[in-house]
Amino acid sequence: MATTIISAGLDRPKTNARTALDRYGTVARPELAYTAEVAEATAPVYEKVKHLIPEFEWPALAPTVHAINELKKERNAVILAHNYMTPEIYHGIADIVGDSLQLAKEATRADADVIVQCGVHFMAETSKILNPDKTVLIPDMNAGCSLAESITAADVRGLREKYPGVPIVTYVNTSADVKAECDICCTSSNAVQVVESLGAPRVLLIPDQFLAANVARQTDVEVLTWAGACEVHERFTAEELREYRDIEPGVKIIAHPECPPEVVEEADFAGSTAGMIDWVKVNRPEKVMLVTECSMADNIASETPGVDYVRPCNLCPHMKRITLSKVLDALVEMKDEVIVDPEISARARVAVERMINLKS
Ligand code: 13P
Ligand code: SF4
Repeated sequence: MATTIISAGLDRPKTNARTALDRYGTVARPELAYTAEVAEATAPVYEKVKHLIPEFEWPALAPTVHAINELKKERNAVILAHNYMTPEIYHGIADIVGDSLQLAKEATRADADVIVQCGVHFMAETSKILNPDKTVLIPDMNAGCSLAESITAADVRGLREKYPGVPIVTYVNTSADVKAECDICCTSSNAVQVVESLGAPRVLLIPDQFLAANVARQTDVEVLTWAGACEVHERFTAEELREYRDIEPGVKIIAHPECPPEVVEEADFAGSTAGMIDWVKVNRPEKVMLVTECSMADNIASETPGVDYVRPCNLCPHMKRITLSKVLDALVEMKDEVIVDPEISARARVAVERMINLKS
């Protein structure tokens, strides 16, 4: 089925940087020295990142990795990290790593007072929506997302008026305000299932026009969409993929569904970030190109020896705002706290939980 694209708007993240420190109290800022204890405690982490980080650079990173891991205990905090985090975050300090769906599910199980979200703002907001009584911190409040910023709650209300009776599915890459206006949430790993679960002949799937187009190719449901796009994935082209096939014979190409449909069509497999990782682990291709954000290949390379990763990749500037030193600051200063208006949160939770509770 074809997709119909509608137009765009803007939402901003919210901030409340002070109150969590008042509630949790101060801790001493750790000394960052590369001692024998730090070297020993971080040796298993270095094993996983040594293909990327030269030995002489490790003493500059290891003390922060160690300090964060100690502070997590002191603050009773858990770190949820997206698959696009840098390897020192992914392998060094994360308690849980995953795609958006896995992180949302894990957020419901988080057994800690504090969640530090190493990812972008909508992910931290989703954790807060699912854990209204916990403290959710994001190390950089400006870690946004071009998709989340492409649409506002008022835009969704406009769509309801224009398309009465048509169910609205929101990609998880949206603000809480937008989720609160929608019927159900989806991620790239369950979008087809969510769209079909509604039993409607026509569905609005917002705001990613490319995800919507890729879903439309796999279902008989008519999919209407919005003019949003991921600034990382929209830049890949089918022509570039064909060129790589010519210069890298035998390369397997796997793409994220936020890529344009002609890119996905050119790929051997398309799936969420977790789906891509699983595909590489199961199929163990000799040579693979991950058509997505750059940290993905870095993070799984140590777990998939023998697989040769062909670049290119594109960096997500928002994900890359999250750094080890900002995570340390977050835990020392208990900032930046993610706040969601309780009334908005309650309505958004309905859409998120409806997705989580779908039987797969
Ligand atoms: P995943 O749910 O596949 O991890 O995607 C999140 C995202 O932002 C990809 O750009
Ligand atoms: Fe948003 Fe794209 Fe970055 Fe994912 S990769 S957070 S969709 S801008």
